[in-house]
Amino acid sequence: MRHLMTPLDLSVEELDKLMDAAEDIKANPAKYSHACDGRILAALFYEPSTRTRLSFEAAMLHLGGRTMGFADAMSSSAAKGESVADTIRVVSCFADIAAMRHFKEGAPMVAAQFSGIPVINAGDGGHQHPTQTLTDLMTIRSSKGRLSSMKIGMCGDLKFGRTVHSLIRALLRYDNISFVFISPDELKLPDYMTEELDSHPEIKYKEVTRLEDALPELDVLYMTRVQKERFFNEEDYVRLKDYYILDSRKMELAGEDMIVLHPLPRVNEISVEVDKDPRAKYFDQVQNGMYIRMALILMLLGIEV
Ligand code: CP
Repeated sequence: MRHLMTPLDLSVEELDKLMDAAEDIKANPAKYSHACDGRILAALFYEPSTRTRLSFEAAMLHLGGRTMGFADAMSSSAAKGESVADTIRVVSCFADIAAMRHFKEGAPMVAAQFSGIPVINAGDGGHQHPTQTLTDLMTIRSSKGRLSSMKIGMCGDLKFGRTVHSLIRALLRYDNISFVFISPDELKLPDYMTEELDSHPEIKYKEVTRLEDALPELDVLYMTRVQKERFFNEEDYVRLKDYYILDSRKMELAGEDMIVLHPLPRVNEISVEVDKDPRAKYFDQVQNGMYIRMALILMLLGIEV
């Protein structure tokens, strides 16, 4: 039995296979519409979500399976003090596979240790979000035709941004990757991430504060939201929340092949006027997210179509 806790749980070959499978599902949905007949996915969401929870549910429904779960910890027995370990033991009696989002880093890993079914980390605190990374990789590959030889700018909340941490980890394994990390001082990458980058001397990276300076040199711009829920102090959040706003004027500084990604939800960090720019790919990411989760469910359940 396999779980997915971080993108590193999948080899580069497995990532390629998953993306190929997701493209095939996208092109031939009818072929997969009964692949999970009789199977149940449990969506255990202790923290709010729109995309991840609904795309997992949509993925299982499109595979012919069914779903159950909770969207709010307070409507589960977590509100009475039940541990993650006990909850997953119970859910293992009812479902075939579980996707878990939790506000505590490492909670899905604890669940995996006590689970009788595959567990997918659907985002744990400021740590990792591997299925968002699968979505991001699929969108980069389909838009740019490659995952190597790429300069990626990551902008916004790099300190708490689990999507950023997961994507960096995944991209470290491709050739000729370089990063520009764009953030205010308070939201720079955590030390454990820069240490990981430093252990890969072939990877070049720099940390800057001005988005305008970075834009002309990027192949991919990965925007992120400053996450209110991760701040201890409202004053700091208010000071930093609108630090970066990508608008049409700034997009003029970028190359015509640069693509803009964002895991969403966005608040103010991308003006809606950018949505009509053909370089904006964040809603493509959402759609790809369902197909790659379909491919992942099939892989973890060992179902071949
Ligand atoms: N990208 C993402 O994780 O979105 P949700 O929080 O809506 O699931």
